[in-house]
Amino acid sequence: MSEIRANITAVGMYVPEKRVTNHDLSRVLDTSDAWIRSRTGISERRIAGKDQANSDLSVRAIQDALEGTPHRPEDIDLIIVTTVTPDMMFPSTACRIQEKIGAANAWGFDLSGACSGFLFGLSTAAQFIRTGTHKKVLVVGTDVMSSIIDFEDRATCVLFGDGAGAVLLEPTEEEEVGILDSTLGCDGSGGKFLFMPAGGSHRPASHETVDKRMHYVHQDGRNVFKFAVRVMCDTSVGLLQRNGIPTDQLSLFVPHQANMRIIKSSMSRLKLAEDQVAVNIDRYANTTAATIPTCLAEAHRQGRLKKRDKVLMVSFGAGFTWGGILLGWGMDPP
Ligand code: COA
Repeated sequence: MSEIRANITAVGMYVPEKRVTNHDLSRVLDTSDAWIRSRTGISERRIAGKDQANSDLSVRAIQDALEGTPHRPEDIDLIIVTTVTPDMMFPSTACRIQEKIGAANAWGFDLSGACSGFLFGLSTAAQFIRTGTHKKVLVVGTDVMSSIIDFEDRATCVLFGDGAGAVLLEPTEEEEVGILDSTLGCDGSGGKFLFMPAGGSHRPASHETVDKRMHYVHQDGRNVFKFAVRVMCDTSVGLLQRNGIPTDQLSLFVPHQANMRIIKSSMSRLKLAEDQVAVNIDRYANTTAATIPTCLAEAHRQGRLKKRDKVLMVSFGAGFTWGGILLGWGMDPP
C-alpha cells in the first residue's frame, strides 16, 4: 500500500500596500540605506495600515491561495495559524479567520514558533493529513511585526516587515509528491537572545513595563546571527544527505528571510546557484512566520516550480527554534 503524504495544493500571499523604504527610515532614525542594504540585504518593507490586524492580512493570503481553485472555505477541516503577533491573546487568530472566511466546518488553533512557525505548522498539519482524519488543512504563516517593533531602536526596527502567506494541504499517494521528510528542533537556552520581555504571564503588562519599552522585540543580533548561520547549514546538509539528494538536484531552496548574509552563507556552503534560491527579503524584510510561504507563493506564481521539483525549506528563529522540510512540489505551474 502506498504512503499517504501531505501535499501543497494551493498557495497564496498578501503584503500590505504601505511601503517603507530604507530612505524613509533614515529620515527618522540614525541609519542609512547603505548600512541596511550592506548588513541585511533589505531595501524596503511593507507595514500594515492602522485598520489591518493579523487576521486581515491572513484572510487576504487565504483568498489569494483559494482563488481560481475548486476549494471553498466550507470544505476546510482545520486552520493552523502560525504567528507571534496574533490579533489578541485570545480568542485565537485561527477562530477569527475561521469566521471571516466562512469556514463553517473547520476547527483551528494558533501555533507559536516564531520564525520557524510556518514549518512547525506545516509539520503539524501533515500529521492530521497522514492519519487520514483531515482532508483539507490551511496553514497560514502571518505576522504584523510592526505591532511589536520599537521604531526608536535602529538595531531591530530596520529588520522586520508585515505579511502573510497561506497554503492548503491535501492528501496524496503520488510518488515523489508532498512532504518527504522534515527535521524540527528547539533550544530554550537561546531564548535570552531574541524575545519580547513583557505582556505574558511572566511579566504582565503594567505602566512600568510599557514605560520600559518591554513590549517590543529585544535582540542580541550577533548571537542570533551566529546561531542562524550554523543551524541553517547543518539542517540543510542533514536533510539532503539523509535523502540522498545532491544540491544540484534541488530546484528551490527556500530559506527563512532574516538577513541576506545568512542566506548567502547557506548558498556558499551548499554550493547553490542564485536561480536555485528564493529571496524576497529585499522587498519585504523579515516577515517572521510569513517569509517562507510568501517565497513559495511568489515562486509558484512566477512559474519557477513544476510538479515533483525538490524544494527545501529551512528556518531558524526565537526560542531558539529551527526546522527543515523537504518537499516534492505538487502543483503544475499556473
Ligand atoms: N543603522 C546604522 N548603524 C546601526 C544600525 C542601523 N540600523 N543598527 C546597528 N548599528 C550599528 C551598531 O550600533 C554598531 O555600532 P558600534 O560598532 O558603534 O557599536 C554597528 O552598527 C555594528 O553593529 P553589529 O550589531 O555588530 O552589526 P552586525 O553586522 O552584526 O549587523 C544585524 C547587525 C542585526 C543586522 C545582524 O547581527 C543580524 O542580522 N543578526 C541576526 C538578526 C536576525 O536574524 N533576527 C531575526 C531572527 S529570526
